[in-house]
Amino acid sequence: MCGEVFDPGKLPEDEALFQMALEARKMAYTPYSHYQVGAALLTEDGRVYTGCNIENASYSPTNCAERTAFFKAVSEGDLHFKKIAIAGGREGEVSEFCSPCGVCRQVMAEFCDEDFILVLGGPQGVREYTLAEILPAMFTKKEL
Ligand code: THU
Repeated sequence: MCGEVFDPGKLPEDEALFQMALEARKMAYTPYSHYQVGAALLTEDGRVYTGCNIENASYSPTNCAERTAFFKAVSEGDLHFKKIAIAGGREGEVSEFCSPCGVCRQVMAEFCDEDFILVLGGPQGVREYTLAEILPAMFTKKEL
């Protein structure tokens, strides 16, 4: 099973989770956009799955960092999530704010409740948002 495990009483704080996203960002494969993103996804039972964006010469197969982290977790049988930290920016920089794309928000809506937390920000600090805040009126499996 991949992913670092934390004691439930000692879960990483937002800044520490953001640092893990920054570390994961170093593996980004971005020969086309040169925009590199890292994500660190914390599960309910204290495991952290990281991910980076992985681009492709045909462009559309590109996978965002957030989905890499989610798909790693789901493929390992982990389906209960607490929060995700996201760090992105052009090569050599970290933006003040890297907001997840619409496709990634929809993937989050598949696996997370409305109160799932996103830790967004940059070198000057991070801030929490809920999934409901960044994806209002979401379409979910409850509709089907
Ligand atoms: N990207 C992510 O990995 N996550 C985001 O939240 C925004 C965009 C990636 C996709 C692509 O490789 C590059 O950033 C530029 O869009």
